[in-house]
Amino acid sequence: MSDDKKPKKDTAKASAEPEIMEKIVSLCKQRGFVFQSSEIYGGLKSCYDYGPLGAELKRNVKAEWWRAMVHGREDIVGIDASIIMHPDVWRASGHLAGFADPMVDCKDCKAHARADKLPQKEPGTEVEYKVIVDAQTGKKETRKGVVGKLGTVCENCGSPNLSDVRRFNLMFRSFLGSVDPVENLARAIEGKNLTGDALKAAITEAMNETAVFLRPETAQAMFTNFVNVQASMRLKPPFGIAQQGKSFRNEITVEHFTFRSCEFEQMEMEYFVPPPGFAEEGKDDMYWFKYWCDERLIWYAKLGIRSEKLRLRPHETAELAHYAKACSDVEYEYPWGWGELEGIAHRTDYDLKQHEKHSGKRLTYFDPQKNAHYHPYVIEPAAGADRAALAFLLDSYAEEPPPPGTKEGRTVLRLHPRLAPIKVAVFPLVKKDGMPETARKIIAEFWKHQINAFYDEKDTIGRRYRRQDECGTPYCITVDGQTAQDGSVTIRERDSMKQERIQVADAVEAVKKRLV
Ligand code: GAP
Repeated sequence: MSDDKKPKKDTAKASAEPEIMEKIVSLCKQRGFVFQSSEIYGGLKSCYDYGPLGAELKRNVKAEWWRAMVHGREDIVGIDASIIMHPDVWRASGHLAGFADPMVDCKDCKAHARADKLPQKEPGTEVEYKVIVDAQTGKKETRKGVVGKLGTVCENCGSPNLSDVRRFNLMFRSFLGSVDPVENLARAIEGKNLTGDALKAAITEAMNETAVFLRPETAQAMFTNFVNVQASMRLKPPFGIAQQGKSFRNEITVEHFTFRSCEFEQMEMEYFVPPPGFAEEGKDDMYWFKYWCDERLIWYAKLGIRSEKLRLRPHETAELAHYAKACSDVEYEYPWGWGELEGIAHRTDYDLKQHEKHSGKRLTYFDPQKNAHYHPYVIEPAAGADRAALAFLLDSYAEEPPPPGTKEGRTVLRLHPRLAPIKVAVFPLVKKDGMPETARKIIAEFWKHQINAFYDEKDTIGRRYRRQDECGTPYCITVDGQTAQDGSVTIRERDSMKQERIQVADAVEAVKKRLV
């Protein structure tokens, strides 16, 4: 059994997460937002399943992004490319050679870790640490060691006894085609007494014949399809290509629940703009970089993230990739501190030129006015759907004390109505006097209008409201004794808890107008 397939504790639960994270992880499980993947088998490292409410939330996040980036404007079109791409894509993009983290192994407890994330200790100091020597009983042995010149110790057991740092490529390798890579491999090394680098080279060569990679970002398909999209849609820069979809990174350190995992969804857009010499007056590449930084910050704020929890962090020059002209992160203040929500990068013409060089195909735009071909510059807002969903959950979570004169407080998710998994809950006040039948008729109208509505008749009305508050449902409609007399129902608003009476016939419109 490989290390990653061994039963793992839920990383979020096992780690020293701030209390609020523990609460969110627990609420996510109890209310069907996020479950640990393969939980009945002990779970799998950093893999999560979105439950009924989580799937709705993430779909809503992605729909809002698509609405803002594609359907709400004329200059951006969407694509849906395959996850597995030609291996040369990753050679051209630099991912095969450079998409790697520095990794070390602990010689005592055998844990693997990112070298740049290890706890620091003064080089030369003696440290004492405990190592499990019997996995069955958990028996530990105390050992001593001296911190090496890098000044790092194991994050798991505290040992300074670490391997040399090596580069670990984050791309998941797989195989495509009917040639069995294991058979290839066996043939390549059979009868040869290979060791060390020669053995590694023979194995790599044998595997490479059919090797493919799960994409570590969605971006590259927008570059490889640049001419296809531009020509088929007759687009003129500035224009964008957007995509949402799964990406995979074999992250050494996964952390903070869905914040950093190995399988995640991205929402990326490549905005192709005229390079210097071709740009419209006042709208050069840096104008568009700033434009997208502003737009993306506004998107999160409009969907309800508190402005004091959002900021734009420009990268220092030393942080920039060698081809990047500028980069800024949209950051959110998570319970563990400020962290990236989305990156906005000015990638110059690097990607198109790289793919042109490796594929031999021209990837330019022909400017008829100037009668010249050019490689557009690219501004890339790259967001994560899982990370955004987590930020929306965290930011909307509130525990309210009991109102004066009452005993019961409440937990509420103040999600923006358009992000809320359930838009409206419909209740009969009691299970008699025709109230359930009327409530069922009302909810059928919501479903007919494709509004996600939830029917509940169990427990007291107060408990039913609390249950919906806790999963973020913005509106609850209750059929009561008055309904049969004057055709009215109450509509309760989640955040203010205020109720007003509306006519049954107006119920769908009343909710619809609040969702715009
Ligand atoms: N094409 C550029 C690119 O992929 P990135 O900053 O590596 O840039 C963009 O990724 C976004 O994808 C991040 O801001 C984050 O929201 C999300 N993301 C990246 N790695 C992730 C991971 N391991 N788990 C969850 N989300 C991740």
